[in-house]
Amino acid sequence: MAITLEELPGPKGLPILGNITKIDLPNLHKQIEQWADEFGDVYHLDLGFTNQLVVTRPSLIQKISMDRPDVFIRSSKMDKILREGSVHGVFNAEGEEWKVHRSLITKGLDVKHQQQFYPSLLDKVERLHRKWSQRADEGKPFSIQDDLLRFTVDVTTSLAFGYEINTLEQQEGVIQDHMEKIFPMIFKRINDPIPWYRIMKGKKSREFDTAVKEMIKLVDEFILKTREKIEKDPSLRENPTNLIESIILASETEDAIGDKEVRGNLLTLLMAGEDTTAHTLNWLIYLLTQLPKVQDEIRKEVDSVLSDNKIVNDYKLNSQLKYIEGCTNESLRFKPVAPIILHEAIKEVEIEGVVFKKGQKVLTQYRHGALSDKYFTDAMDFKPERWLKASQCPMHNMDAFTPFGAGPRYCPGRNLAILEVRGVIAMLFKNFNLELVTPYEDVDEIMAFTLMSSDYQVRLTHRK
Ligand code: HEM
Repeated sequence: MAITLEELPGPKGLPILGNITKIDLPNLHKQIEQWADEFGDVYHLDLGFTNQLVVTRPSLIQKISMDRPDVFIRSSKMDKILREGSVHGVFNAEGEEWKVHRSLITKGLDVKHQQQFYPSLLDKVERLHRKWSQRADEGKPFSIQDDLLRFTVDVTTSLAFGYEINTLEQQEGVIQDHMEKIFPMIFKRINDPIPWYRIMKGKKSREFDTAVKEMIKLVDEFILKTREKIEKDPSLRENPTNLIESIILASETEDAIGDKEVRGNLLTLLMAGEDTTAHTLNWLIYLLTQLPKVQDEIRKEVDSVLSDNKIVNDYKLNSQLKYIEGCTNESLRFKPVAPIILHEAIKEVEIEGVVFKKGQKVLTQYRHGALSDKYFTDAMDFKPERWLKASQCPMHNMDAFTPFGAGPRYCPGRNLAILEVRGVIAMLFKNFNLELVTPYEDVDEIMAFTLMSSDYQVRLTHRK
């Protein structure tokens, strides 16, 4: 028999306010898991003015994700908040419009473009190597998270805008400074039951507005320069060399891509590509500090694939780093940087006996399943081998592994992100020894749109 939202279990709430007072945003992902332990893999949260249907069951997450964009869309509240910040691109577009955005972005991130982009990526890995060599010479503890964020800003700016900035070595962290103010505020606004910022703006809200204005100014300058470049060199019309050129050219022929959408997609790419990849690297490095045997296996792999080179200077060799990829998958199981996805039903539908009414808000959280023995053998063990062909792990349910989402809105930057992670981790373990200086247990998870770690310090020494 089908079950409706009202019949689903869930935490007991207060009159009118429901569960609002219990929500602790920086720990929301953990609260969702604790409630799933208590109430099961589909339950109900009363958020006062709205009700949220929470799903942690992998098969149901898959079906909801597959049913986009016709039955489920992304949260309409998130769309409103992103549009207020001038972000109107593939992440928040819906229906036919989304299909046009999606095809444009996916093409720009496909294997051919990744191969073309690889020399530019190498250039940034070399910069990071220079910086870490200096750090190893100095022997002082430092925040690796900061270096990784700068690395991904440099990579994403080069990929999206064809523009070389060097925030890694020149300390001009403009884009990074703005991003730091943007993400947590978007997450807060999406989750605040009352839009307080429309009534009165606090310091952080004002800083957010300034950061968004500055980012728009920057992106608009890139757009202007690129339009001039295309005018001077009409051959680019046939063969655009980067994403910004492709998007601008598409705006000349596609009704769904106007000036706002050009800007919106560029902001989307910067936002989607930077924080996620940096925090994935940051979590992986943190976890590896406690896994000396896994580090030994990584070194075996890099010594064999890289020979005497310091970095992976060939695209094909990068894709041979299967053990590092296994480590990345394990890190994404334990520390997924995008653990929560918000959806909304646009028509009534029944899936696996659960009724989703039109307008129903749905929150999916995948880590609960990814860390359950029901779906992965020895799920609480970090086992990169489970991702290799000769794996001895009998239970390996891929439905429960969705760090990049699933279905037609699956992350189009997945392969680029993995390429970056393999390149950086190979360079790190080929050249350096790694030591965690901050006590392991002092490092917390903080949910602020992406799941990041509290700052931690490491020390590098040169590998003999
Ligand atoms: C480890 C790094 C990354 C992780 C964990 C990640 C994760 C995700 C997730 C969970 C989604 C939502 C998928 C869904 O709704 O089913 C997403 C969407 C998206 N990601 Fe990523 N991402 C990463 C890196 C990147 C990179 C490097 C780019 C591009 C430069 C990128 C571009 C996008 C875009 C454009 C979307 C929206 C797709 C759509 O709505 O059709 N991501 N990502």
